[in-house]
Amino acid sequence: MKTPLGRYPVNYTPKAFITGISGQDGSYLTEFLVGKGYEVHGLVRRHSYSENQTTRIEHLRDKLKLYYGDITDFSSLLHVFLDNNFDEVYNLASQSHVGVSFFEPVYTNQVNFIGFINLLEIIRQTQKLEKIRIYQASSSEMFGNSTDKDGFQRETTPMHPVSPYGVSKLAAYRLGVNYRRSYNMFISNGILFNHESTRRGSNFVTAKVCKSAARIYYELDDKLELGNLESNRDWGHAQDYVRIMWAILNEIDYPDDFVCATGESRSIKELCDLAFNYFSLDWKKHVISTEKFKRAEELYYLKGDASKLKSVISLDFNYNFQSMIEEMCDYWKNYYSR
Ligand code: NAP
Ligand code: GDD
Repeated sequence: MKTPLGRYPVNYTPKAFITGISGQDGSYLTEFLVGKGYEVHGLVRRHSYSENQTTRIEHLRDKLKLYYGDITDFSSLLHVFLDNNFDEVYNLASQSHVGVSFFEPVYTNQVNFIGFINLLEIIRQTQKLEKIRIYQASSSEMFGNSTDKDGFQRETTPMHPVSPYGVSKLAAYRLGVNYRRSYNMFISNGILFNHESTRRGSNFVTAKVCKSAARIYYELDDKLELGNLESNRDWGHAQDYVRIMWAILNEIDYPDDFVCATGESRSIKELCDLAFNYFSLDWKKHVISTEKFKRAEELYYLKGDASKLKSVISLDFNYNFQSMIEEMCDYWKNYYSR
């Protein structure tokens, strides 16, 4: 006999749908939910190079139900929801690169904001609203350069985003609150601060630095071009944070908005120092700051206060900044040693 799964009855197999299942967070969340005994469904985009569609979830393919689709395409979502009743939906699909959002502002808003309207409308019109719980991947980028007097950002800190990405995420965040109130839907916003891993796309700064330090170590490159070296981020690990996404829907019995962060902020220079030191290299001899990677407007400082979340669930993180960057350096070192 099966044991009850969290809030679900014995012998019940909960059904989850994940948009962005092929991404960094989607892949870890999938592992986590499959491990818990969920039936996991997910939306996958068509790529011209088909292996790229599911690289991060290839090892789980036979356990998943995947659908071709795009969150901007209402019809591709509709048939999935007409055919299924889901218990949990995680909306992780996103044009998630802040720098790229300055070059693709319309598309970024179509995916991150209009995509979420598509999803909420379809859920509202096809699902059992008393049963379904929805997680929206909101972001610390929504704060922009706004902090409270003590230097932290928390749920009550004014939000003044400084990128098309941040604006799109703030619009979606407010839409989630609006649908929660208007239709009594269980929609929770996880306002997650930066989180990284060995599965992080290598055009995000942590992965870019660790990968480049490995290439310089093996004498494949000599220089690393970065943009602004003056910003600071509150970096956690993606594997730790997907457990929090699940807990927000399952361990808290009301929908709300929660900051998830480590409460520590590190500079890009500290990141470079740590990663290059791992390879016994001096980052100052290799890193240069170029205009090419600078943003039209920069967000300089993020440090999150997760007290609200900590008051209702436990935040036991397995990684700290150092162990995470070391794991990423290990990964890239092994990658180039092949
Ligand atoms: P990611 O690795 O870039 O993954 C994004 C996912 O969205 C990918 O699966 C991507 O599919 C999919 N996607 C992109 N455009 C889509 C579209 N039009 N239709 C359907 N799917 C689409 O991002 P992540 O780091 O896992 O982040 C997950 C979510 O959390 C995102 O919403 C992000 O904005 C948010 N977030 C991330 C962080 C962080 O630090 N990682 C912090 C706060 C919030 P492809 O594989 O086909 O590209
Ligand atoms: N990507 C990148 N590439 N960033 C650089 C570079 C570079 O060459 N050089 C300096 N940076 C700086 C950026 O200007 C920014 O201040 C900081 O490094 C972090 O950049 P990213 O790693 O691209 O992350 P992000 O903070 O802009 O966005 C990530 O975190 C958000 C949460 O705060 C993404 O995961 C977003 O999707 C997420 O919402």
